[in-house]
Amino acid sequence: MSYENVLVEKHGEVGVITLNRPKALNALCASLIQDLGAALEALEADDEVGVLVLIGSDKAFAAGADIKEMKDKTFVEAYRENFITDGWERVSQCNKPIIAAVSGYALGGGCEMAMMCDFILAADNAKFGQPEVTIGTIPGAGGTQRLTRLVGKSKAMDMCLTGRMMDAEEAERAGLVSRVLPLEGFKDEVIQVAQSIAALSRPVIRLAKDAVDSALETTLTEGVRLERKMFHASFAFEDKFEGMNAFAEKRKPAFKNR
Ligand code: CAA
Repeated sequence: MSYENVLVEKHGEVGVITLNRPKALNALCASLIQDLGAALEALEADDEVGVLVLIGSDKAFAAGADIKEMKDKTFVEAYRENFITDGWERVSQCNKPIIAAVSGYALGGGCEMAMMCDFILAADNAKFGQPEVTIGTIPGAGGTQRLTRLVGKSKAMDMCLTGRMMDAEEAERAGLVSRVLPLEGFKDEVIQVAQSIAALSRPVIRLAKDAVDSALETTLTEGVRLERKMFHASFAFEDKFEGMNAFAEKRKPAFKNR
C-alpha cells in the first residue's frame, strides 16, 4: 500500500511509518493524518508485525499541525468538524506497542503526536516544544495534559507559556523521552529497540502496555489492584510457563504468543 504523505516499511516484525512531507517539515495536514490512520490500520491488522515505529526526517519529526491549513478556520468550523480529533486520537489508541522516534523538530502537534506513542526515543538533535501561544492559540492535541503528566506542572507551564524549545538532553532529564541516541544510525538503533520488544511474547507485552497506560488514568490503589489482576492473568499464557522454564533451564525462551 502506498500513501502520499507517509512511507511504510517492514523490518521483520517491526512496522515503520515515516512521516514524509519534507517540504513542510512534516506539518500534520488533514491528508497526512488520514494517511497515517490508514497506515496504522494496515500495520495493526498485519499479523507479522508486533511493534510499530513512528519516525520523521533528520530535520523534523513534525513541526506541528498545518498552520496554513488552519489559519483561516473559524470557531464554528473548528467546532463543527471537531478539529484535531478524528485520526489524531488514533495514534493513542494503537493496540500494538508504538515508539516515537524523534529527530529534529517535534513542535506543537508534532510533540503531542510523539507523546501519544508509548515512549519516545530521541536523536541528539531533537527539539521539543509547544509553541502554539506564539501563533495566538494553545495546544489542541493533548499537549497541556500529556506534557504535564510526563514532565510535571512547572516545566509544562514553562513550555506552554513561553513556547520555547527544549533539546534532547533536557527532554531526557525531564522524563519526556526515555533515551537519547546519536543521530547517526538513529533509525537502525530504534528498529533494534523495537525488535527487542517484538521478540517477546505479544500478549504479555500487551498486558504490560495496558498496565502502564492505566497508571495515568487511575489512583495508585486502583492501579496496583489492576496490575495485580493483569499479572495473575499472565499465568494463563503458555508463554509465562515457557519464559520461566527457559530461565530455570538456562536457555533462551521460544515464545509462541499464546
Ligand atoms: N505548518 C505549516 N507549514 C509549516 C509548519 C507548520 N506547522 N512548520 C513549517 N512549515 C513550512 C514553512 O512554512 C516552510 O514552508 P515554505 O518553504 O513553503 O515557506 C517550510 O515548512 C520550512 O519551514 P521554515 O522555512 O520555517 O524552516 P526553518 O528551519 O526556518 O524553521 C521551524 C523551522 C522553527 C520548525 C519553523 O518552521 C516553525 O516555527 N514552524 C512552526 C512551528 C509551530 O508553530 N508549530 C505549532 C503549530 S500549531 C499546532 O500544532 C496546534 C496543535 O496543538 C495541534
